[in-house]
Amino acid sequence: MNLQPFTLAIFGATGDLTRRKLYPALYNLWRENQLPKDFSVVSIGRRDISREEHHDAIIRSMERFSRKQLHTRHELKDFLDRFSYFRLEFHNSKGYGELKSYLSEVDQTWHTQGNKIYFLAVAPEFFPIISDELHDHGMAENIGSWQRLVVEKPFGQDLQSAIALNNDVRKTFPEENIYRIDHYLGKEMAQNIMVLRFANTLFEPLWNNRYIDHIQINLTETIGVEGRGLYYEKSGALHDMVQNHALQLLSLIAMEPPIALDTESVRDEKIKMLRSLKIKPGDVVRGQYDCDEKANILGYREEENVSPQSNTETFVALKTTIDNFRWAGVPFYIRTGKRMPQKYSEIVVTFKKLPGVLYFEKEDLGSNVLVIRLQPDEGVYLQFNAKRPGTNNFIQPVSMDFCQNCHNGFNSPEAYERLLLDVMRGDPTLFTRWDEVEYSWRFVDQIENMWKEDRGPTPLYAPNTWGPQKAIDLMQRDGRDWLRFQRKEVYII
Ligand code: BG6
Repeated sequence: MNLQPFTLAIFGATGDLTRRKLYPALYNLWRENQLPKDFSVVSIGRRDISREEHHDAIIRSMERFSRKQLHTRHELKDFLDRFSYFRLEFHNSKGYGELKSYLSEVDQTWHTQGNKIYFLAVAPEFFPIISDELHDHGMAENIGSWQRLVVEKPFGQDLQSAIALNNDVRKTFPEENIYRIDHYLGKEMAQNIMVLRFANTLFEPLWNNRYIDHIQINLTETIGVEGRGLYYEKSGALHDMVQNHALQLLSLIAMEPPIALDTESVRDEKIKMLRSLKIKPGDVVRGQYDCDEKANILGYREEENVSPQSNTETFVALKTTIDNFRWAGVPFYIRTGKRMPQKYSEIVVTFKKLPGVLYFEKEDLGSNVLVIRLQPDEGVYLQFNAKRPGTNNFIQPVSMDFCQNCHNGFNSPEAYERLLLDVMRGDPTLFTRWDEVEYSWRFVDQIENMWKEDRGPTPLYAPNTWGPQKAIDLMQRDGRDWLRFQRKEVYII
C-alpha cells in the first residue's frame, strides 16, 4: 500500500521511549523502504539542544537499539536530514503558535501535504494539555489532510482518571483519529493468535471448556525498574503490565470469533470478553523484589526515586475466570514480574487429559499442551503423546516446535515498526478503543479495591526467583504448576 506523505511530531523526544523504540523503528522502516518518499520528523522536547546534538542522539539510539546495523553517517544523510528539533515547554500556550508555523515550514520543505502524526511519548498528565493546545491552535483539524494523535500508556491511573483523561482528549480529537498504543499488540506472535485460532481446523473446535483445562499467560522480565522509579511508584506491575499487555493477550486468546476481521468487529469481541472477566479475593498475589547483596542487585526500595517504605508491587500473579458459555470453569492464570530468572512472554494452553488409555502401559499421561511463544523466540510449541519406540507399550510426551525467528538471518520487525506503520496507514486495528481501556480498568480497579482492604506489606521475593511462594501456591492449590517449555534445539539453516 502506498503511504501518504506525513510529518511525525514526537512530543517527549528526549525521553526513553523515543530513544529506545521510536528512532530505531523509523530507521528500520526507512531501511526497508517502507516509508513514503516524502516524510519528516520533528522531535519536540523541553531541553535546549542543537540540531547537531539532536542528530548525534538519534545516531546513538540507533546504534544501540536498532535491529539493523547502522549505515555510515554519510549514507544516513538523507534519513537524518528529515529530522529537526523544536524546543517547547508543554504548558506554554504561545509556544504552540510557533510550533504551528514551524510545522507548516517543514510541511513545505518536505512536501508532506499537511498530514500529521502527533506522538505523545510523555507522562499522561501532559496528554490533555498538549491535545487541548493542538486543538485550540487549529492543529487537530482534518481539512484536506489528516491529523492523528498517538498516546502511550498509562492511560489513566484508575477508571475514574481514565474517563476524565479520555473526555479531555476526545474533546480535541475524534475517536477514529486517536491511536492508544499497547505495544504488545504489535508483536508478531500477538498478531498471530487470531490466525492460529481461526485459520486452523486443529484448534478452534477444541477451544472451549470441554477440552481446555486452563490457560496461563507469563510475561516475565529479568530487569528491574531501570531508573523509572518515578513512573513505576505510581503504576506497579498491575498497571504497568496487567491492565494493558496481559489483558490484551487474554482477550485475543479468549474472545469469540469476530464476524469479520475489520477493526470494529475484532474490538467488539474483545470487549465482550473483558466484560465477562471475574476475579475473587484470594486469587491475586503481589510481590516486590528484594536486594541481593552478593549479586550486587538493589532491592526495589533502594532504586532511584522509590520510597524506602514503598509497597508498590513489581510482581503480580492472578487467577481469573471468564463468565460465558465457552469458558465457564476454565481458569486463566496471569503472571508478570521484574527480576525473574528469565525474560519471556508465553501463553500456555493446557488441554484436558483423556480418561486413561487402554492396552498401553499407562504412566502418567501428559496433557496436550500448546504454547504460543511471543518472545524471545517467536513460534508455537505443541506437546502430545506418542508411543515410546521399542517393544514395550509405553507412552511418552513428544513435541513439535515451530520457531519463526530462530533461523539464521530472520529478524522480526519490532512492535513499534508495525504500529508506526499502521498509524501512517490509518489502520487502528492494533490499537485499543476507549471501551477496551475502560473495561480493563474496571477489572484492575477490583483488584486495587481488594488490596486496599488488605494492605499489609507487599511480600518480598529474592531477585532471580519466580516471585513469592504464594504465587506457586496459587497454582498448586488447584493441582497445577506454572509451566515453561524451553526450546531444546535451535536449527540453523
Ligand atoms: C512496558 C512496561 O510497557 O513493557 C515496562 O512499561 C516493561 O515496564 C515493558 O519492561 C516490557 O516490554 P517487552 O516488549 O520488553 O516485553
